[in-house]
Amino acid sequence: MTESAKKKYKPIVYIIAGTAALAGLMFGLDVGVISGALPFIQKDFGVGALQQEEIVSALLWGATFGALISGFISKRFGRKITLLIGAVVFAIGSLACSMAPTSSILIAMRFVLGIAVGIASFTAPLYLSEIAPKAIRGALVSMYQLLITIGIVIAFSSDTYFANYLKLDNVTGGHWRLMLGVLVVPSTLMFLAMFFLPESPRWLFLKNFKTKGKEVLLKIRNSESEVDEEIAEIEASFEVKQNGLKLLTSNKNFRKVIFLGIGLQVIQQLTGINVIMYYAPTIFKIAGFNTHAEQMWGTVLVGCVNVLATFIAIAFVDKIGRKPIMFGGFVVMGLSMLGVGICFKVGLENHPAIVGATANAVTNNTLSFIAIGFLLLFIVGFAGSAGPIIWVMCSEIFPLAGRDLGITVTTCTNWIINGIVGMTFLSLLNGFGHGNTFLLYGFIEILFIIFFILFVPETKGASLEKIEENLMNGVALKKIGQ
Ligand code: BGC
Repeated sequence: MTESAKKKYKPIVYIIAGTAALAGLMFGLDVGVISGALPFIQKDFGVGALQQEEIVSALLWGATFGALISGFISKRFGRKITLLIGAVVFAIGSLACSMAPTSSILIAMRFVLGIAVGIASFTAPLYLSEIAPKAIRGALVSMYQLLITIGIVIAFSSDTYFANYLKLDNVTGGHWRLMLGVLVVPSTLMFLAMFFLPESPRWLFLKNFKTKGKEVLLKIRNSESEVDEEIAEIEASFEVKQNGLKLLTSNKNFRKVIFLGIGLQVIQQLTGINVIMYYAPTIFKIAGFNTHAEQMWGTVLVGCVNVLATFIAIAFVDKIGRKPIMFGGFVVMGLSMLGVGICFKVGLENHPAIVGATANAVTNNTLSFIAIGFLLLFIVGFAGSAGPIIWVMCSEIFPLAGRDLGITVTTCTNWIINGIVGMTFLSLLNGFGHGNTFLLYGFIEILFIIFFILFVPETKGASLEKIEENLMNGVALKKIGQ
């Protein structure tokens, strides 16, 4: 551990970071809530497969739009106001979804809700990276991912409760309107908590509110000398007086780092994580777990492993660094996806045929558990590496003058690829085969390791300003964190 990483920071830093990271909770709740609600929405509205896909993906396209406009809003009005707007849209969207009288209105309202998720996914990592002391920046930005995973598991669990246990008007379960509507509660609480956040000091300096900016830094840093040093760094980074679009057309170093950020987000989504997040019950089913209860509790287990494994990244990201964790994570993810694929190829592939085939039952049963073991290992690999670290790195690599644009482009990329993966999984399973689909993801993951070797820098412990200086001086991407 570096000296600075051992240093104690004021508790207020963690409180502020925890509050801003609540935006991740909003992201997670929305990602997680739909899988459990969908079967009941389908029954109520009598919608077919296509419309169900639209209900799922409307949120993803809304999020792409939300991320797109957040760059402008957060630059103009500040990071804090943007987070507050996100919480308000989240509350309105949740309520509107729960009251939707028709499936088309539900689709439209899911788009609105998506805008809130897009705003959150843009603004929270940006804000966190701007208020964090550099030695613990990785861990603080990772808190955002931790809250995403907690949001997902809360949504899985509350869906399970509303789907199976709550009895209303003599009807037990299936209360999808409550599943969606209950999200008004966390969004209102989030709004109230975020109200007390200070504005990002970097943004305050950008807008020339220097006294206010210094006041915030004095509150969250240990000493005045530390504050002065940081202010000098922030002001030096303003010497490049350009905006993101100008940088994009005029500066090849900026274009290179945009390419890096896009690559990182494409890679995060092509790990296939959301195949599991959106379709976990289906995967349990095709792996031979036939009862609704098995599929449901299996999904909750996936969510819990996702939360717990995120602590691996939080614990090590600022100690052993971003790159070694990513290497390890991708090896684990690649091998475990290949493992799931092989289980399908050697026995589970035609699962309906093995149901009731007693001669094979024990073997197939064992194989089902092995497949799910690999699946959980994959989650450990993702949550311990790419889940948090891609967000951390995308919040670190862009120069201040182009940070909003950089994060906008990369966050939108995340949502677009997310949408494509979500919309193609079922077709891949049916057209390409269960085993082949997982093998494909496994091979892709192994391939990504080459991208890390060639382009990805280690940013542990480097100040955002140092990263910027290296980048703008034409240092190779791989070395901008040194
Ligand atoms: C990803 C999401 C994913 C989540 C799962 C995030 O880092 O961006 O797409 O659903 O992790 O924990």
